[in-house]
Amino acid sequence: MQRRLAVILGLAFCMGTAATRFGGDEPTQAGRKVKNQFLQILYTRDILGNAELCGCSPEQKGGLPRMATVFHERQKPNLATLKVDCGNFLPKSDDPWADIHGPQTIRGYQALGYDAINVGSVEAGYSVAELRKLRDSGLPLVSANIGDAAGRLLFSPWRVITKGDFKIACIGLSAKGPAGEGVQLLPTEEALKRLQPLLAKEKPDLVCILGDFTVNEAVAVARNSREAHVILSAKDLKFAPSTNAFIAPASGQYGSLIGRADLRRNGPTFEFEAELLPLTHAIAADAAVLKLVKEVGETARRTITLSPHRLGALDDFANSLACKTCHAREYEIWEASRHSHAFDILKEREATTRIDCVACHVTGYRKRDAGYFAEHVGCESCHGPGRKHIELMTTGKGAGAPLRAGKESCQKCHSELNSPIFTFEYYWSKIQH
Ligand code: HEC
Ligand code: HEC
Ligand code: HEC
Ligand code: HEC
Repeated sequence: MQRRLAVILGLAFCMGTAATRFGGDEPTQAGRKVKNQFLQILYTRDILGNAELCGCSPEQKGGLPRMATVFHERQKPNLATLKVDCGNFLPKSDDPWADIHGPQTIRGYQALGYDAINVGSVEAGYSVAELRKLRDSGLPLVSANIGDAAGRLLFSPWRVITKGDFKIACIGLSAKGPAGEGVQLLPTEEALKRLQPLLAKEKPDLVCILGDFTVNEAVAVARNSREAHVILSAKDLKFAPSTNAFIAPASGQYGSLIGRADLRRNGPTFEFEAELLPLTHAIAADAAVLKLVKEVGETARRTITLSPHRLGALDDFANSLACKTCHAREYEIWEASRHSHAFDILKEREATTRIDCVACHVTGYRKRDAGYFAEHVGCESCHGPGRKHIELMTTGKGAGAPLRAGKESCQKCHSELNSPIFTFEYYWSKIQH
């Protein structure tokens, strides 16, 4: 936690310059209107479907409703502002709740009014059919290197956007990653080369490359594109590397941060400064966007039926109460912990039929048939099904079942998103038995 904060603060001030290489109009030519010198870029990345916060921890950051608030507050009538996403806005294609959080994010993004959205490596993990559907969503998607099996681009490689007195070319590039069925990632070097003649013809003031890069990938892209002025964004960037283009730090995982890059035109060059704004609970949720993502979530969820108590006979679960006879001390500790009533909070929140909530607030959740064994986080959530163990212990017959639990038993529920300040040592100390 402390280390993470230090990284964020370390990134808060990141500067650089880049030269214009396209001879646009001189800003101060006699008899001409003086051009606006400032551009603000608001950028996001790696939202991963975190459209609506689940509310599992007050420490949780992100969510599209808070993003909308920051977008509103930062947009000023006289300040040219470009709003872009660097990719990975959808949940991973194998995310158990992709069917709910995907549509929520797409609908929310439509409301947020982005100027350009890069199709990232996470999106490239979807099938070509799903990407075609995404293309028809009306979002301003760009990708210069995601193609079908024949190598034909699936999206427009770039968009030319005018903001104030800036003519901006936004190019989309996806970092490497496993491609979905029928999808092909073309080498970024080649993709950039193909755009060179178009850029020379269009003569934008500013060339902005959007991508979900690591630091090394961003540096390589800067080397391969002499035209680029700014590259948004590089993960784990700790200082501004010296390249021809300004490389901006990535905004955090699950939309925990929003990036803001300020750009000042200074003759033929640009000066940049970037900072990352944390999306904590101190930022109010935008009511309209909140209502929207909630509604889309409800609609998507209606197609899924939960089936409680179906697993009992199938999966050898017993129940926490059945352990009490022989493990009275452990039972007492468990009963006093929050795990023993973890389902109650969902009743309070009217979320007992929400599959994307129930999974971690019950015992024996199984994705395959959207079923679970019992309410609350019982002994068997961590130890696994215990019926065979009880049989062996009472009758001395049967093979039993290993009931070992450890660090790894926590992480399926205490994930980075749902339990952001989780450490095994600290959390285990509260429920040690
Ligand atoms: C009839 C008594 C009995 C019941 C009921 C019972 N256990 Fe046990 N359990 C034992 C005994 C005895 C041991 C010690 C066995 C040993 O050391 O080999 C044990 C050991 C364990 C261990 C340590 C496992 C290991 O491999 O060292 C765990 C964990 C455990 N039980 C969990 C549970 C859970 C969870 C339940 C309920 C689903 C449960 N037990 C129900 C008697 C019982
Ligand atoms: C991936 C697992 C997971 C999912 C999915 C999940 N939760 Fe949670 N939830 C947790 C964990 C773990 C905690 C405890 C977090 C902590 O204290 O660090 C928690 C805590 C909570 C709390 C705080 C409990 C309290 O006593 O203050 C609320 C409220 C909550 N969850 C509601 C929800 C809702 C509503 C959803 C669905 C939108 C949901 N959860 C989905 C794992 C999950
Ligand atoms: C949140 C997860 C979790 C829950 C819930 C939980 N346990 Fe455990 N339990 C663990 C972990 C992890 C360990 C092993 C800790 C270690 O290795 O030192 C453990 C250890 C044990 C042990 C001692 C095993 C040994 O080898 O010494 C027993 C017995 C046990 N649990 C029984 C229970 C019973 C009975 C319940 C329910 C009343 C329960 N546990 C609920 C996670 C859990
Ligand atoms: C099946 C999902 C699940 C698993 C597995 C799980 N937890 Fe939890 N845990 C939860 C939920 C849900 C809550 C919140 C319950 C509530 O407050 O209503 C929670 C709450 C807690 C809390 C209370 C947090 C607080 O602020 O007081 C502790 C401590 C905790 N878990 C420790 C652990 C540890 C340690 C493990 C692994 C050994 C573990 N949990 C495994 C779901 C899980």
